[in-house]
This record gives sequence, structure tokens and C-alpha cells, in this order.
Amino acid sequence: MAVLPILEFEDTIVETVAANPVVVIIGETGSGKSTQLSQILHRRGYSKKGMIAVTQPRRVAAVSVARRVAQELGVRLGDEVGYTIRFEDRSSDITRIKYLTDGCLLRESLSSMDLNKYSVIILDEAHERSLNTDILLGLVKRLVSLRGSNLKVLITSATLDGVKVSKFFSNCPVLNVPGTLFPVEKLYSKERPTNYIESSLKTVLDIHTKEQPGDILIFMTGKDDIEKMIKKLEERIMELEEGSCMDAVVLPLHGSLPPEMQVRVFSPPPPNCRRIIVATNIAETSLTVDGVVYVVDSGYVKQRQYNPSTGMYSLDVVQISRVQADQRAGRAGRTQPGKCYRLYPYKTYLEEFLDATIPEIQRSSLAGTVLYLKSLDLPDLDILRFDFLDRPSRESLEDALRQLYLIDAIDEDGVITQIGRKMSELPLEPSLSRTLIEANELGCLFEALTVAAMLSAEISVNSARSKGDPRKRKKPISPLPDGSGFGDHIQLLQVYESWDRAGFTADWCIDHDIQVRGMMFAKDVHKQLRQIMHKMAKDPAEVDLAPKRRRREEDYRKLRRALCKGYGNQLAERMLHHNGYRSIGFRSQLLQVHPSSVLKGDEDGVLPDYVVYHELIATPHPFMRNVCSVEMAWAVPILRKLEKLDVNKLSGASDVRKEVTGVADEVNISNKEVSVEKDVGDKIRAARERYLARKGNKS
Ligand code: CDP
Ligand code: MG
Repeated sequence: MAVLPILEFEDTIVETVAANPVVVIIGETGSGKSTQLSQILHRRGYSKKGMIAVTQPRRVAAVSVARRVAQELGVRLGDEVGYTIRFEDRSSDITRIKYLTDGCLLRESLSSMDLNKYSVIILDEAHERSLNTDILLGLVKRLVSLRGSNLKVLITSATLDGVKVSKFFSNCPVLNVPGTLFPVEKLYSKERPTNYIESSLKTVLDIHTKEQPGDILIFMTGKDDIEKMIKKLEERIMELEEGSCMDAVVLPLHGSLPPEMQVRVFSPPPPNCRRIIVATNIAETSLTVDGVVYVVDSGYVKQRQYNPSTGMYSLDVVQISRVQADQRAGRAGRTQPGKCYRLYPYKTYLEEFLDATIPEIQRSSLAGTVLYLKSLDLPDLDILRFDFLDRPSRESLEDALRQLYLIDAIDEDGVITQIGRKMSELPLEPSLSRTLIEANELGCLFEALTVAAMLSAEISVNSARSKGDPRKRKKPISPLPDGSGFGDHIQLLQVYESWDRAGFTADWCIDHDIQVRGMMFAKDVHKQLRQIMHKMAKDPAEVDLAPKRRRREEDYRKLRRALCKGYGNQLAERMLHHNGYRSIGFRSQLLQVHPSSVLKGDEDGVLPDYVVYHELIATPHPFMRNVCSVEMAWAVPILRKLEKLDVNKLSGASDVRKEVTGVADEVNISNKEVSVEKDVGDKIRAARERYLARKGNKS
């Protein structure tokens, strides 16, 4: 096999790194950045004084690249070469090269601000512009001046605008490693297909029956599409006349693939057999599959976007950017000239696609990030003025500050509280960390951990059911607990507890039509969260981790109360004379309970007056997903806090208003505050009146 391009530049790289604290390295996907740079620096002695850290935005990439490097060095994974991803650590005292997700490195920097155990930090895949890598860029910039010559930073990317990053790091050198890409012929569709799955299917079958040997890589938008596509492809390939073309094997490639399936994609194909790999955009740059000659590009990608003005997430299928389209095409020309079938017209590529993908920091909820920054205790930190490569919108920063304030992580002057500090130590989103801390106070920590673990493992109990072929089942699906009418969090708790009582068996999961792997993961997360809570406590008596074996309504009530604290920013009130809810706070909007929810009304079918929700999704109407009923008395303190809120103070600089926003903005903001105060006051009054009226009715 040809030498990887990175290796041909080994001497130049080593010299440049020796002479500079920060170096940007730009090279084609597949040139060896992820697997070779760490090994080069290891060989040259950089791992003697400290470890070499390589960050990856994606968990799968961290694991797969670490596995590959361990293999190349002939060591056991977890020994000299290891990895750390959230809830899974395969590294040890003798680890010299450690692959980790960017989120994990951020977390490590909390307990060791200067990241002293690392002599080299490689921020890999920087072009992905993941939220955490962007924050790391800002953090590492501070570290470089702090640690001087005993830290080397490499920033690598396939497509990143090197000049921009170089400027950010006071004009550090940029090394361009030319790849050995073969020409790729691009074939465009006349128009956008109405159904891109069908259209991809047809294109693939055409290639398979008419073109020369060579693997096919198809870009789909997500796991569901991939599964649909694979099923159809396998059917159609079976129908092809025997001997009319070569054999084919169809393989999926996406982020939630079990490890044994990933290995299949990276192992060599059987002889005389074409591999057809159906992937998400993970195959664009993070993972390289050898042997691809044909690429089928639908031109779409699934993107999670957060809208700070509505607090709502949407998972949209959107058009890719031109940079992405070129990356996808490039995958076809790694070993020989290739072809890329673009299922869109050239005009679309040229006129409709954005130049580059919008960085995640500009489309995410930033509560976790802002809490992290606050917990670092950086001197002179004003969140609204932190040194970002690309600044998130003021609106999303304010949204984050508000949320943190409402759940007591920061005080009204924007200073991080004791609660906020504890929260930042937990590897969970702020709402769940806050819930755990409150649950500990209320004596239901074990149960809250269960809910947090189930949510982290993304177990969806109701929507996944009834898929699959019922005829394949020997037994009918056993019914699940129903949350006792209190909603989905309580149901998640009950599901886990039933599984616990059944001895955590796989059979139980199968009988109840729940993913075994997901439940096993939840169990593991539960254990780790317990350990973290124990470690955090100065005195063991501070954490009460005894599970309640005999469940009573009062225990559910405590748990719901803890959840109400954590979801202070995600509170909704039932509207009178209307079948729905209205969100409380700055964003007054109409909401529906997601159809998959088990939240139930009372005898008359009337839903609870107040609920909290885990997330809002636009599909396209605002739905609350994972809903839990709460009591008005718990909501009132949160409404009170809303009255006092001044977002400029929260940002951490009292003079920020004058300096940053200018006059026009100032007027705008104060108007908003006035209207909100009035709004909240009205709400509390209205709620109280209703409450009293109901009480009156009952007595
Ligand atoms: O990071 P970059 O895209 O520059 O390349 P890389 O991930 O270091 O991959 C270099 C080569 O290693 C690729 O051509 C793959 O053939 C191989 N590789 C592999 O076989 N299995 C992996 N899990 C990762 C890389
Ligand atoms: Mg890479």
C-alpha cells in the first residue's frame, strides 16, 4: 500500500512543531491526520513527558481510530493507546496516546485547568466545527500562553479555512499536506428527485449492474433512511439474475452502530464482491473506508438546530454545503479515478448550497457551554465577549444565561453558585444535573439517577414499539408500566425498575420490545453516575444512594419535584378552554404534548395544570417530548425568579450594556424586560386564582 501523505511530510511536520507552539495542518481526508500524527510525535519522544491527546468530535471516530492505531503499533487497546468517551474509559496508567471526544477533554480541563498530563493536544477534525472543539480552540489559546514551551498544539482539518484559524492563533504556521486524490467525474441529475431514497436506489442498481468493480458509498441522512435503503437494496439485489453481475454485500455506517458492525465496514471485502456502504455524513471526513470508487450523494444531511427564541430543537433534513458536497465526491477518488453521482442539478450546487456548513455553536443550546465557561473561574470572563472563532448569537448566549439563572446555577449577578459548581462536575446537561442535586436533597437520588441514565441512553419506550414484523414474534409484546399518569419520566423509572426486578435480563427487553443494548448502556451509565456522585461528596453521608424498593406515590412526588427544579426553564401551563399548553417565561408559545407521551388527565380527562418537559421539538408544530406533571407550588418560585432577571448582569459584566450593545439594543432589551415582568405577574395571579377556584370546587 502507498505511503500515507502525512508520512511523506514527517520531517517538515516535526520541525515546524518543534519551532512553534501551535501548528495548523490541513490535509485531504484519508491522508493520515488522525492515525499518523499522534504516532509521529510519539516516535519523536513527545509522549515521554506527557500524554498525546487527540480529540474527535464523534464518539465512533474516537473509538475506531484508537483501535486502528493500537493495531498499527501492535499493542492492546487501552494500554499504550486508549480512548475516553462519555461513560466509557479505555485508557490506563501506561497510556501514551489517548483519543478522546472533544467533550471529554473539556471535562478533564475542569479538574485540571492547565491539562498538565498532556504534552501534546491535537484538535482533530476542526473543520467539523463542533461546539466543543470551538470552545477548546478558545481554551487552548489561553493554555498556550500559560504553559509556554511544554505544550504543543496541533489543529488539523480536511477543509478548514486555515488562514482564519492561523489568525486566531496569532498567525501560527499552516502546513498544507497535498493528498494524492484521483480525478472524480461528477454526474448531475437534471432535477431534484421527489424521493431521494428511491432515486439513490435506482442509481446504485445502475452502477452495480453496469459499472466496473469498485465499492459504492451512498450518503443518506440518518439511521432510519439507512435501514430502509438497506432493506430495499437487499431485496432488489436478490431479484437480479444470477451471474448477470458480481456479488454484493450491503453495509450500514452511522454513529450508533454496534462495534461488531463497524468492524465489518473496515475489514476487507470477500473476493469478487462489491461492497455497498450506506452511510450518514460520518463517512464524509471522520471515517475513511478504503476501496470506494462510486459515490452517490443525495445532497441532504440531517441537522439538529436549536432556536434560542423559542427554546426549540428541530431535526431537519437540510441541503448540504458546497464544502460537504466536495468532500463527499472526494471519497470516490482515493485509490483510483472515480465517479460521483450527485442527485441534484449543477445549478443547485452552485446557487442554493451554502459555501460551508454553519458551525454547531451557532445552532445549539449553549447552557452547558456557558456553565462550563463560568465554572473555569477565568479572570475577566464576560461570556458575551469570550474569544470565539465564530461568535454565537447574542440571543443564544442570553438564552443560556437565563436558563442557568432559573435553575440556580448562577446568581442574579451572573456568578456561579455552589449548585452550579456541582452541576458542572456531572457529565449531563444542566437540567439533569440540577435535578440530581435537588433529588439528593429530597432523598430520591437513586431514582433520579435512573431517569437521567434512561434519558442519556436515549431509550424511547413508546415510539419504538409496534415497529418490526409482529409475525416474527413468538410471543406478543408484554405491556410496559405507564408512569402512573404522571408522565414519561416516571414511566422511564418504572421501566428500569421492572427490568431490575427481572434481573436485568435480555429476555425481559425482548419480551417488552425494548433495545437490549440501550438498556445495558443505561445500566452502565447509572453505575457511573453513582460513582461520580460519591466522588463529588466530601462526606459520604452527603449522598443518599439507597434505592426505594417499595414505591409509593410520595416517592414519585419527590422525584417530580426535583425534576421541576431542573427543568425550571422548561415549564408549561395548561391553557383554559384550549387543548394544549403555553410555555412560561420569555417565550410564550402554544405547545402540545407529544403523542408518544404517557401523561394522562384526571377522571375527566383534564391534563395537569403544570408540566415540565425534557425538550421541545418542531415537527413542525411545537411538541413537548418527555413530559412530567408538576405542582403549582413548585412552579411559583421559578416564576418569581423570572421577575428579577436582568440578562446583562448575568453575563458577568455590569458595564457590558454600555460597551457592547450600544443604544439601540439597550432600548430593545429593557422593553422586553418590562413586558415580561408584567406577563409573569399576570401569570402568577391567574394561576393562583385558578388554583383557589379548583380548591373551592373540591371542598
Ligand atoms: O484523518 P485522515 O482522514 O487524514 O486519515 P486517517 O483517518 O488517519 O486514515 C488514514 C488511513 O488509515 C485511511 O486511508 C484508512 O485506510 C486507514 N484507516 C483504517 O483502515 N481504519 C480506521 N479505523 C482508520 C483509518
Ligand atoms: Mg481524520
